[in-house]
Amino acid sequence: MMHPLEELRDAALAEIAGAPNEQALEAARVRYLGKSGSISAWSEQMKTLSKEERPVVGKLLNQSRTAVAAALEQASEKLRAASESGALAEIDISLPGTPNELGALHPLTQMLDRAIGLFRRMGFALAEGPDVEDEWHCFDALNTAPDHPARNEADTFYLPDGRLLRTHTSTVQIRTMESAGPPIRVIAPGAAFRRDEVDATHSAQFHQIEGLYVDEGVSVADLKGTLEYFLRELFGSDTAVRFRPHYFPFTEPSFEIDVKSKALKSGEKWIEVAGCGMVHPAVFEEVNRARHDAAYDPEKWTGFAFGLGMDRLAMILFDIPDIRFFAQNDLRFLRQFAS
Ligand code: DAH
Repeated sequence: MMHPLEELRDAALAEIAGAPNEQALEAARVRYLGKSGSISAWSEQMKTLSKEERPVVGKLLNQSRTAVAAALEQASEKLRAASESGALAEIDISLPGTPNELGALHPLTQMLDRAIGLFRRMGFALAEGPDVEDEWHCFDALNTAPDHPARNEADTFYLPDGRLLRTHTSTVQIRTMESAGPPIRVIAPGAAFRRDEVDATHSAQFHQIEGLYVDEGVSVADLKGTLEYFLRELFGSDTAVRFRPHYFPFTEPSFEIDVKSKALKSGEKWIEVAGCGMVHPAVFEEVNRARHDAAYDPEKWTGFAFGLGMDRLAMILFDIPDIRFFAQNDLRFLRQFAS
C-alpha cells in the first residue's frame, strides 16, 4: 500500500508535469511545499507519530520534498526555454537583411579623377579660383577687349555689384600667376557659367579643366604632346587628335582640339573637346602690371594654356547623349556609372 505522503508526492509531480505556465508552477509549489502546503504539513504531524513510524516518514518526507522541488526547478527551466524559442520563432531568420545602400561617384567626378590622375603624372599641380569673379580676371587680364561679345550681358551672368559668374576657368591662369612666379604647371578644374539656351549639349553651368604651363622654351610641340598624350590615355591609343587653328584673345597661336576614334560610340565623327594655345605676351604683361614686377618677362618665358570641356569629355567617355542628365540627380542615370 502507498503511504499518503507518496500519494501526495505523485500528485504533486503529475501537477507539475502538466503545468502550462510559470503561474501554475508557482501555485503547485505553494500548495505542496509552501508554509501551509500539504507536504509541509507532514513535518507538523511528525510529533504525533510513533517512534517506529517517525524515521520512515521522516525519510519519505525528505525524499518527497527533494523530488517535488527538483521537478519544479526542471519544469520552470523547460518553460523558460520554450518561451525564449517561441519569441525567436516570430523572427524569420531566412528573410534577407536591410542592405546598406552604398553611394557611388558621379560620372563627372569619375571623369575628373581620371583627368587629375593623368595630369599629375605629367607634373601638373591643382589650382583653383572663385566662381564669382571680377571682370578684370575674367576678361581684361586675358587680353579680352571691352567690346568682346563674351562680355555682353546677354551672354554672361552679372551680379548687381558688377562682378560675374566666371564664363571660363581661364581666370585661374591669372590668379595663379599673380600669386606665384614662373615656372608654373597647373590644372584648374571647375564650373563655368554662360547664358546659353539649355539643350542636349548646352547648359548654363558646365565644367572645364583649365591648364597652364609656363617655363623657359615651352613650345607648341609641348602643347601638342601634352594634350595628345592626355586624350589618348583617356579615350584609347587609337584616338586621332586634330589641332584646328582658331582665335582666342589670350593665346597666339590658338587652336581648337577635336578627337575621333572608332572605339567611341560617336564613331568616325570629329568632336571638339578643348581650346588651347600659346599664352599671349599681352597676358604676361598684364600679370606683371598687377604684380608690380617683371616676373613674367615675355622675352624669357613662354607658356601654353588649354581649356578642356569636362562635361563634353565625360559625355564622350561614357556615351552620355544629353548634358542635362548630369544635373538631374536621377538614380536610374547615376546607377549606370556605379561600379
Ligand atoms: N577659355 C576658353 C573657353 O572657355 C577655352 C580656352 C581656350 C582656354 C584657349 C585656354 C586656352 O586656356 O588657351 O572657351
